[in-house]
Amino acid sequence: MVTLTSNRITLRPWREDDLHSLVRHADNFNIWINLRDGFPRPYTEQAGRDWLKMAMDLKSNLFLAIETDGEAVGGIGISFKEDVYRKNGELGYWLSEQYWGRGIVSEAVVLLVDHVFTNYPDILRIYANLFSFNPASARVLQKCGFHLEAIHKNSVIKNGQLADEHCYVRFR
Ligand SMILES: CC(C)(COP(=O)(O)OP(=O)(O)OC[C@H]1O[C@@H](n2cnc3c(N)ncnc32)[C@H](O)[C@@H]1OP(=O)(O)O)[C@@H](O)C(=O)NCCC(=O)NCCS
Repeated sequence: MVTLTSNRITLRPWREDDLHSLVRHADNFNIWINLRDGFPRPYTEQAGRDWLKMAMDLKSNLFLAIETDGEAVGGIGISFKEDVYRKNGELGYWLSEQYWGRGIVSEAVVLLVDHVFTNYPDILRIYANLFSFNPASARVLQKCGFHLEAIHKNSVIKNGQLADEHCYVRFR
């Protein structure tokens, strides 16, 4: 069980009793528009239960709640890739809109990336893919030592609109 802390936030495993805060914070168009369609909209209680079951069960990935003010207000995770990509981890995150702009996700990314590079010696490369219309996420990654490695032109369609995907990477 991993728990990572700074003076403001705790990254810790999801728990069943996170359901209500998860649904309350995640059910938000401005979060959904920046994530893959696997992130549900509307974010129902059933969607929340499904996520919690997955996040708590999966042994091969590291999906953690971002806790501040005593509740889960977002999520951050690394999914470990397989086969020829097994030296890679893919980073993803979201935060309740009411907490945006306070440096919380930048703090969370630093904690998690340091943890992975320290404790998973096989992982050489951590990357994150973001939509071109998400400058806040690009800024988070730049602040945390990632650089823009590639732009995949017109590779995503979100909310009916084609967009480029930007791949940011940080090496061990
Ligand atoms: C992207 C997101 C995770 C950022 O979380 P956060 O805790 O607000 O991020 P931080 O406060 O650590 O940093 C945000 C940075 O982006 C900057 N920023 C915010 N909006 C911006 C914009 N429109 N253009 C440029 N920079 C912007 C902020 O000023 C800040 O940079 P600074 O510290 O240099 O001032 C959050 O907005 C979110 O959950 N968005 C929806 C889901 C999402 O996009 N997930 C990532 C998918 S790749």
